[in-house]
Amino acid sequence: MEQTFAMVKPGAVQRELIGEIITRFEKKGIKLVGLKLMQMSEELAKQHYAEHTEKPFFDELVKGITAGPVVAMVLEGENVINIVRTMAGATRPSDALPGTIRGDYVLDTGKNVIHTSDSKESAIREINLFFKKEEIINYSLATETWIY
Ligand code: TYD
Ligand code: MG
Repeated sequence: MEQTFAMVKPGAVQRELIGEIITRFEKKGIKLVGLKLMQMSEELAKQHYAEHTEKPFFDELVKGITAGPVVAMVLEGENVINIVRTMAGATRPSDALPGTIRGDYVLDTGKNVIHTSDSKESAIREINLFFKKEEIINYSLATETWIY
């Protein structure tokens, strides 16, 4: 089964949106297989956003993502990489549709509430960056036969 990485950003933790965001994934039928509240170091932030090193917003990005605790998670399900990204919504607030997480909670690109992996390669890289193997739990949900 496919896995992806998602992270509730510091602003969303401060706005007390952790439960709201996780609830959306649970209701969709996506399984949480890894979950932690953590403070990212500057080093981890730079690694996580390595693809954006040369962008003009890189310093702000690193500052923002380390400004307070985040909630990192590994999500599992069929086509979960694309589905979670669709549920998160577009990067630009003006493009993020109502019903998506960003569409419902975001006005500013730099404070866009959630990170989600954008490809299979990113998902693997980001899961390994944030989680040890033993922190990802393989288990069944009784509801699975009603989801698949
Ligand atoms: P990106 O990976 O392009 O977006 P996404 O989070 O949708 O995968 O960019 C990473 C983060 O950088 C994005 O969530 C918010 C921030 N960012 C800016 O602050 N300004 C920008 O112009 C862009 C494109 C991103
Ligand atoms: Mg991205």
